[in-house]
Amino acid sequence: MIRFDILSIFPEMFASPFDCSLIKKARENGLIEIAVHDIRSYAEDKHRMTDDAPYGGGGGMVMKVEPIARALDDLSPGLDAGQDGIAVVLLTPQGETFNQKVAGELSLSSRIILICGHYEGVDERVRAHLVNREISIGDYVLTGGELSAMVVVDAVSRLIPGVLGNSESASLDSFATGLLEHPHYTRPGEYRGWKVPDVLLSGNHRDITAWRRRESLRRTLARRPDLLEKSNLTEEDRRILAEIREEIQG
Ligand code: ADE
Repeated sequence: MIRFDILSIFPEMFASPFDCSLIKKARENGLIEIAVHDIRSYAEDKHRMTDDAPYGGGGGMVMKVEPIARALDDLSPGLDAGQDGIAVVLLTPQGETFNQKVAGELSLSSRIILICGHYEGVDERVRAHLVNREISIGDYVLTGGELSAMVVVDAVSRLIPGVLGNSESASLDSFATGLLEHPHYTRPGEYRGWKVPDVLLSGNHRDITAWRRRESLRRTLARRPDLLEKSNLTEEDRRILAEIREEIQG
């Protein structure tokens, strides 16, 4: 069971993504708990300001430290960002790039607090004193950290035992094995003349397993050769890759 707390100035953005599919089921089954908190309700001034002009001048606005600090105090009095099992994460394009490995690390937490940044940035004291991790979901800039927080909740939740059924186990995912997954097909066996590879209809499981491994290697070589360098390849895998390279070169 992981509890996610999300701090956002747009809490209404989170309604539907967490109310569908496996995330909805995981919440209903008590495998995850998600609470969304409105940062604005922790702003104490009469205009409920969550941002202000930057010291030193220049354009843009900066998210203020006090509402975020107060929200964190309220979530767990005395919450210590260094505490084991508690990840306090700022979503920002300046963070470490999110990937399957980071998702795996976070899935071992008991509690994950996600702070969604906005505007030109967040007061540096949030980074320096209130969070223990900064995450970017990729090298592009979004209008805010909300979509990024959803991505993190989704990718982490599906790694919690019981969230996926056995048949959809995360252990064979693309990336989990270090390779991209092989292609998938389902009925019909032929559609508009587009045929399913014969081997998949053969019923020969040894051949099917070998075909899937070969296609997984082929796809990874074509699309993400960088992954091959980091994955644990067997002698047999290397032999197959050499064959595939020869096929390509003709
Ligand atoms: N906020 C804006 N862009 C972002 C990104 N790429 N990752 C995480 N948070 C963000």
